Amino acid sequence: MSKKISLSGIQPSGKPHIGNYFAMMKQLVDQQEEYDVYALIVDYHAMKSVKNPKVMKENIINVVLDYLAIGLDPEKVTFFKQSDVSEHTELCWIFDTITTMPYLMRAHAFKDAQAKNKEIDVGTFNYPVLMAADILLYNPDIIPVGADQKQHVEIARDIAEKFNNNFGQTFKLPEAVIMKDVAVVPGTDGRKMSKSYNNTIPLFSEYEEIKKIVMSIVTDSKEGIPKNVYAIHNLLRPATELLPLYESKAGKYKELKELLIEDLEKFIAPLREKRKEFAKDIPKALAILKTGGKKAKKIASLKMNEVREKIGVNVYE
Ligand code: TRP
Repeated sequence: MSKKISLSGIQPSGKPHIGNYFAMMKQLVDQQEEYDVYALIVDYHAMKSVKNPKVMKENIINVVLDYLAIGLDPEKVTFFKQSDVSEHTELCWIFDTITTMPYLMRAHAFKDAQAKNKEIDVGTFNYPVLMAADILLYNPDIIPVGADQKQHVEIARDIAEKFNNNFGQTFKLPEAVIMKDVAVVPGTDGRKMSKSYNNTIPLFSEYEEIKKIVMSIVTDSKEGIPKNVYAIHNLLRPATELLPLYESKAGKYKELKELLIEDLEKFIAPLREKRKEFAKDIPKALAILKTGGKKAKKIASLKMNEVREKIGVNVYE
């Protein structure tokens, strides 16, 4: 029996932190054994915020190195970027013609932008439709997403149904699988780990950086257990191990922080070293992405042929 298909969208948006790792990156890599995974770098989606070509290029290269470093295996996963498969934007247009404005105006992202009185560009408005095309081209069974993206997967399902009803069965309806939220990954101040709170531990930190960050953690404590230190430590070790350790060292903040530094270093060092290896040969890393793009293109173009056939524009024999 062939494996089920899982498709993930990856935003190329700067340095990942361990919150991103535990909330999404690791889950994607863990899936590669069980599923036929499509890992898609959504560079065209990212254009809505990145309008500097140098930054765009750097972000794409960085995200490729990040995912290779954490163990994404290009033999198992189709790892590619949206802009290498023009079928995504092509299908987006076709979907645009069967999607109404009032329907898209109900999307959270649009409503939020509107509430903030932002001048909304057409790309932002149309964002869920491009995402629907990303998804539906590959007949995936599941779409692992954060809770904030659930509505977008529902939009993809609605569009698929509408197309199928109008033109005949073409697209499979995928299920959203809601991943552990970044909200459960605490930052150095106890709030969720987020760049905007400045409370992150970068995933590929150097030892000195880890040390500096951990030493700066505020040690609010309950019965001598510094809760912010503990919460981060708990990502790396189960409570059954950690609690007795923290109890036996209650109040010894410096010692507990040193233990956390060592554990973080043990976890981060191999990833950091692997990333450095890949970074030594960027053309080689990018060749992996290019190969993935060719693989995806084959599948997407078959699907698009089917779509063109269904909508009646295929007039040649
Ligand atoms: N909108 C998603 C996000 O912001 C990214 C994305 C684009 C995506 N296309 C996708 C996610 C397809 C899953 C499937 O995170």
